[in-house]
Formats: sequence, C-alpha cells, structure tokens
Amino acid sequence: MSSPSGTFTNQYGPWALIAGASEGIGESFAEELASKGLNLVLVARREKLLENIAKRLKQKFKIEVMVFPLDLNSEDMLEQVKLKTDQLDIGLLVYNAALSPIGLFTNHSLDIHLKVLNLNCKGSLSLTHYFSQKMKDKGRGGIILMTSMAGMHGSPIHTHYGATRAYVLHLAESLWYEMKDHNVHVMACAAGVTNTPNLLSSEPTKGLLIPKAMEPRKVAKAAIKGLVKNKPRIIPGFSNNLIIWFVHSFLPSKTRTRIMGSIAKKMYGEDKIHINK
Ligand SMILES: NC(=O)c1ccc[n+]([C@@H]2O[C@H](COP(=O)([O-])OP(=O)(O)OC[C@H]3O[C@@H](n4cnc5c(N)ncnc54)[C@H](OP(=O)(O)O)[C@@H]3O)[C@@H](O)[C@H]2O)c1
Repeated sequence: MSSPSGTFTNQYGPWALIAGASEGIGESFAEELASKGLNLVLVARREKLLENIAKRLKQKFKIEVMVFPLDLNSEDMLEQVKLKTDQLDIGLLVYNAALSPIGLFTNHSLDIHLKVLNLNCKGSLSLTHYFSQKMKDKGRGGIILMTSMAGMHGSPIHTHYGATRAYVLHLAESLWYEMKDHNVHVMACAAGVTNTPNLLSSEPTKGLLIPKAMEPRKVAKAAIKGLVKNKPRIIPGFSNNLIIWFVHSFLPSKTRTRIMGSIAKKMYGEDKIHINK
C-alpha cells in the first residue's frame, strides 16, 4: 500500500512546475511540495533567488530541482516552457505569478494594464491549457491557480487586478468540473492579504479595519490541503472565509463594492500608484 506521501507523488508527481517561485507564496509552495517529495521546476525572473531556494530544498528534502529563469510575460513563454519541460513528467502546475497594480484605474497606463492582463490571465490560461491536456491524457494530475479574494467582488483601487483574479477564479472552478472525471484536480486558491515581499513593498497602512495578513506558508499549506480534497476553490484562513460568507450572504453587491473601496482607500489612499516589479 502506498504511504500518504506516495499517494501524493502518484497523483501529482514526479515533477511540479511553479510559475512565480522566487519569493512569497510561490517560495512557500516550493517548500511545501518539496516536503511532500515532489521534484520542482522553479520559474521566475530572478535566477539567484531561485538558485538559493533550489540549493536549500535539494539539501533538505533530497529532491531534484530545476531552476528556470523566465519572464512569463515574454512572447514565446509557452514555447520556452514546452522546450524546457519536454522530458519531464509534470504532475502539478502552480500558477502563482501576478502583477497587482494599486491605485485608481485611470492612474495606470494602458500599457501597464495590458501587461497585467498578459501575466495574470494569458499566462495562466496558456500553461493551464498546455498541462491540463497532458494531465487528462495521463489520467492524473493537479493544477492550482492562485487568485485573490479581490476577484470575488468589486475591488476599487485594485480594479483591474481584481478583474484578472475573477477571470482566474472562474477558469479554475469551471475546469475543475470538466476535469474531475479524468482524475485531474483543478483548484483556485483565493488568498486574502498575505505577508509577502510584494505586499510589504506596497506599504499598506495598518489599522483596525485593515485585514490581518496571513503568512505565505499557511496559504500554501491550505491550498495543497484543498487540492488533495479536490475542491474547486479554497479561501485560506478562517477569518477570510467568515468575511466572504458574511458579505456575500447579507450585503448587496453595491454595498460590498463600497466597503471594499473604502477599505482599500484606508490601506493606500486614493493617490497611491504602485505596481510590483
Ligand atoms: N500577497 C497578497 O497579499 C496576496 C493576496 C491575495 C492573492 N495573492 C495572490 O498570490 C499570488 C502571489 O502573490 P505574492 O504577493 O506572493 O507575489 P507576486 O508579486 O504576485 O508574485 C511573486 C512571484 O511571481 C514572480 N513573477 C512576477 N512577475 C513575473 C514574470 N513576469 N515572470 C516570471 N515570474 C514573475 C516573482 O518572481 P520574479 O520577480 O523573480 O520574476 C515572484 O516569484 C498572486 O497570484 C496574487 O494574486 C496575493
């Protein structure tokens, strides 16, 4: 009989590809998946960070790690991924990278908005399309698409980011249904505010009305737990679930959007213009 970790690697192994793995939630996914015995392909632009993570995880968990420096926004991104992973049996895809502009919609250029669309939507669509077909043919596998609570209601000040998170949420949930009879688990992980370098660089104001940030490790753990249960979507953290349950059960969408707008204004002010690099 397989051990629990054997069961995990049989379903999602032997290799996992993490798109956006050099820090924050992506780095936590790497740590968690390595601890479960998966070999890793780590994708991001900052090679040095990826190499440090690879060295640490190889030593700690005796797994194989391939460092793959790549700009997921590049034109030939999918071709490069296909070439690099051609000889690998990828059983799990985690699409984690995102651009998250903060500030009024009209304060960001169209060029920025198109980059956001490309990385957050086209990137996750392309890799999901490629790997879901392969997983369907094999009759096993898993896909985690990182998204956000900002995709579950109007999210002023994060307007376009929230819209891309809604796209990813619906992509994952609908694909979960199509894939469940093929033994391929597809799940959206809609995180709340999480203590990542990206969040810290945006310098949010702290205060009673500002949601408490979760640790990235807890987000990755909750996502993996949800995937194993073959859930179509999870929201990490009890209080995040409580907030979503409350606002979706009792408030009309106009009120929800007003509240989200006023929280975002308190966190960042209306004149803030910030985007992760
Ligand atoms: N942090 C939060 O509060 C929060 C809340 C809700 C949801 N989320 C979701 O969680 C996910 C991760 O968020 P995060 O805060 O950890 O960080 P993030 O800034 O969204 O993403 C960080 C990772 O993505 C990589 N990345 C970014 N642009 C890339 C590109 N063009 N090509 C390749 N890799 C790229 C970064 O590496 P390089 O810079 O080295 O390329 C880094 O490894 C996102 O999908 C976000 O929507 C986050």
